[in-house]
Amino acid sequence: MSNPFREDLVSRTRPEACTVVIFGATGDLTHRKLVPALYNLALDGELPPGVKIIGFARREKTDAEFRAGLEELNRKVSRTGHDDAVWSSIAPNIHYHQSEFTDADGYARLAATLDAIDRDRGGKGNRLFYIASAPEFFDDILTQLKDAGLNEAKEGCWARVIVEKPFGTDLATAQRLNRVVNQTFKEKDTYRIDHYLGKETAQNLMVLRFANAIFEPLWNSRYIEQVQITCSENLGMEGGRGGYYDKSGALRDMVQNHLLQLLSLVAMEPPTDLSADGVRDEKVKVIRSMRKWDTPEKVAQNVVRAQYTKGSVSGKSVPGYREEDRVDPESMTESYVALRIMIDTWRWSGVPFYIRVGKQLPKKATEISVHFKSPPGVLFNALPTGVPGGNVLAIRIQPDEGISLRMVSKIPGTSLRLEPVKMDFQYSTSFGKPSPEAYERLLLDAIAGDATLFARRDEVEEAWKFIDCIEQAWHQAASPLPMAEYVAGTWGPKEADDLLHEDGNTWRRL
Ligand code: BG6
Repeated sequence: MSNPFREDLVSRTRPEACTVVIFGATGDLTHRKLVPALYNLALDGELPPGVKIIGFARREKTDAEFRAGLEELNRKVSRTGHDDAVWSSIAPNIHYHQSEFTDADGYARLAATLDAIDRDRGGKGNRLFYIASAPEFFDDILTQLKDAGLNEAKEGCWARVIVEKPFGTDLATAQRLNRVVNQTFKEKDTYRIDHYLGKETAQNLMVLRFANAIFEPLWNSRYIEQVQITCSENLGMEGGRGGYYDKSGALRDMVQNHLLQLLSLVAMEPPTDLSADGVRDEKVKVIRSMRKWDTPEKVAQNVVRAQYTKGSVSGKSVPGYREEDRVDPESMTESYVALRIMIDTWRWSGVPFYIRVGKQLPKKATEISVHFKSPPGVLFNALPTGVPGGNVLAIRIQPDEGISLRMVSKIPGTSLRLEPVKMDFQYSTSFGKPSPEAYERLLLDAIAGDATLFARRDEVEEAWKFIDCIEQAWHQAASPLPMAEYVAGTWGPKEADDLLHEDGNTWRRL
């Protein structure tokens, strides 16, 4: 008998009108991602009528100046282009609020503005606070929201907070931030954003695994030999990014959050239901089960870090990492990292998960590939071609979103010769329309109160426990571990290839 239909577990509640307050509203994220996402939601008729947006930041600006800057960027970056009529439908609902993040008076004025919106402009009393400022202000903003009473929802309304990355720089800072967040908002009203979870293909991972009967029986160490997750970027430290990045590095910037989130979706057990906690309970178990590389020897054996030297990317000469603007010329921060991760569970015992991520690689691409074991060679191994490689299920997260399955086929002809072929599914051809941007989905989910695609407190902390061991080994003053090099525009250092060769594997060519 099939399960009774639980509508509450498959469809979210209807998003209600609310006021979105964005802290750090003059920054890049607001202009390039958040407002274009709200614009595209409005275009698709998904944005609940009556949503108001307040940009909270330190610079002096009028509403008109703020709107003009947002409009200019929306014209450049909106995935669907810019339609004046749609923009005019949201622009009057965008306001600017000037204040220091530490100024209590600024929050008192904000509270008065929010009340006025509810009283005079049909606001519904619901509030979504989006903390997108520089991370050093996260604590102050949360504390000030609490002191102004803005963390408390009015009767029949809700108050939620979205916290942008970076969520701490290690376990201790993440725990501290979690304490401040949870003293201000309930965990159920806290949305720690990880935009990779909003990417269409990442969301499809669960559907692929659990809505198709053919994969799950094979999804374990009996049939799978290795899993690779690659996230390559063909950018360096443009736009002054070096200042932030040089304090962070690839491991903290990408692996702690985006890549471990993807890995947990690939490796998790089927959740008992699709509720936010049902899914997150299973994801956190994966992160907790990752073997810790907790001595310099283990880190040296399982993790490779590297920096790019000058080279050429997409036909353009680029400087080396240490020559980049705002990067310390003697920097020991990695622009590339490759890891072998072992998940000590019944399902994954002995299966290596390899992750590699880096800047200034040949192209922008994120892909997960699941490599199946080869069949016993009794039948075809005697052929001149042998059996050319095993089955590979490749999930392209971006760009060119899709899924392909590599199989072995007979080459047509009178003799028996084998060659790998590919079955390919592409989102763009199957569904005929581009996928929404991650921030569209995530903003709408937060407005609708669905936290499934946001990281829970324990997930973030468990991920930091894994990362901290590696960072500590790297930076032990007595004997810091080596930093490898790769020429910008190549696929990373030789040491990362060696990491896989030790296991008889090679990185998949993207
Ligand atoms: C951010 C990182 O979280 O993700 C950046 O801080 C990185 O360094 C970016 O470039 C990549 O995101 P996307 O969506 O372009 O793959």
